[in-house]
Amino acid sequence: MFLKFAHQIWENQLPSGGVAIDATCGNGHDAAFLATLDLSHLYVCDIQKEALSRTQERLGENEKILYYLGCHSCFPFVDQPVDLIVYNLGYLPGGDKSLTTKTETTLRSVEKGLSLLSLRGLISCMIYPGHSEGSREGEALLNFTSTLSPKKFEVSHHQALNRSRAPSLLLIKKIS
Ligand SMILES: C[S@@+](CC[C@H](N)C(=O)[O-])C[C@H]1O[C@@H](n2cnc3c(N)ncnc32)[C@H](O)[C@@H]1O
Repeated sequence: MFLKFAHQIWENQLPSGGVAIDATCGNGHDAAFLATLDLSHLYVCDIQKEALSRTQERLGENEKILYYLGCHSCFPFVDQPVDLIVYNLGYLPGGDKSLTTKTETTLRSVEKGLSLLSLRGLISCMIYPGHSEGSREGEALLNFTSTLSPKKFEVSHHQALNRSRAPSLLLIKKIS
């Protein structure tokens, strides 16, 4: 439900010629939106070959897009400061529901992502508490990010108050 809101934030966030990572590309909808922005590089990652193929099909040939098949807890492919890292957590729609993002690897990835961010860089996480691992993952992310120094990061959480177990949006911005 916050997807459009998230896209607006990403668009406002990215400097011209910026660098972005889609850490869970899935069917490539978010990556397709990011690819319309003025980026120098878009890194696209998923643990499933099927997801990368679907995304590649959707995006077509584009030299600024680099694909990585593997777990986002590694990020071995990025050697420059990153302006935006996006996560759309959960499982591949229309795919195997057991291959969902997992609390431990997501936390490791976000921790690593924080160290890659440029000044004023942003991490955006769409959290889906509608299944048990998603609920555990969301809680762990909120617990971890609420301990971040307010001098270094602005952390906000956007959540529907009149719907239970609805997706929510966690934003972490590096401010110093
Ligand atoms: C909800 S889908 C993403 C939807 C996508 N953003 C879109 O626009 O279509 C979540 C994706 O995370 C991927 N995933 C799960 N665990 C992962 C991991 N450890 N590293 C990278 N991707 C992972 C799944 O394979 C799935 O494709």
